[in-house]
Amino acid sequence: MDEYIEANRAHWDEVVAPHRAGDFYDVEGFIAGKPRLDPLVREALGEIEGGKVLHLQCHFGLDTLDLARLGALPVGVDFSARAVEAARELAAETGLKARFVQAAVGEVQRTLGETFELVFTSYGVLTWLPELTSWARDIATCLDPGGRVVVIDSHPTSMVFDDERRDGELRVRYPYFETTAMRFREQATYAVGGLALEHDVTYEWMHAIEEIVMSLLEAGLRLTVLREYPFAAWRMYPFLERGEDGFWRLPDGRRDIPLLLRVEAVKPE
Ligand SMILES: C[S@@+](CC[C@H](N)C(=O)[O-])C[C@H]1O[C@@H](n2cnc3c(N)ncnc32)[C@H](O)[C@@H]1O
Repeated sequence: MDEYIEANRAHWDEVVAPHRAGDFYDVEGFIAGKPRLDPLVREALGEIEGGKVLHLQCHFGLDTLDLARLGALPVGVDFSARAVEAARELAAETGLKARFVQAAVGEVQRTLGETFELVFTSYGVLTWLPELTSWARDIATCLDPGGRVVVIDSHPTSMVFDDERRDGELRVRYPYFETTAMRFREQATYAVGGLALEHDVTYEWMHAIEEIVMSLLEAGLRLTVLREYPFAAWRMYPFLERGEDGFWRLPDGRRDIPLLLRVEAVKPE
């Protein structure tokens, strides 16, 4: 397993610079004041001004810094040293106050040794984790009593379909109940193509709704919100169409499957 995590870490280290420079993240727009967190995330987060927020898998810190812009006191963690370094640089450049710490999911509490009112994680996070038991336990130990976790990510159902087909047909390609690592080799990421990566092999894992919810419940949290949305935050299939609200939907108004999942849970007092 460590071998897979190390392959992923090397990959994520390597893509920080192209992601930082590419159009997808629009870093210049963010520096100029453009919000990063979309309305769905902002609604889920609620009022965060003055709150201590832990942001998991923060990449190079854009979302974390937007939390700071909204008045929160965020700590961003990521297992990629280069991501953390780039996030700190961006914090210095923007003058926004956020702390960034290198930590792998499962080891965040051991690394930070503090607790938070809110733990937030979103968009392209769960697929990188081999299992969710240690993820959920880590979240639970990072929360204050009464604290809340907000998880917004691709809906597990949406992960089973062929993401290379262009004809609008949803055809099952990846088994929903797969528990072993899926290996990918690509010179492109969701954010940038045409790369010449040394570390082009990655490993990802499927996580059923059952696993997401049960891992949080078994970690002692109480489920408060479970919602499904017929739109995605990025073009997860080539035939998705972008709406004026910035979200991506199936063509012709189809609402065949859920594309995003939102789960919230609280730590009992
Ligand atoms: C898709 S990105 C982050 C999503 C974030 N919403 C964004 O768009 O900037 C996934 C992040 O997860 C991090 N990551 C992957 N596996 C991890 C692990 N086991 N522990 C901590 N971070 C991890 C990667 O370094 C990467 O920065």
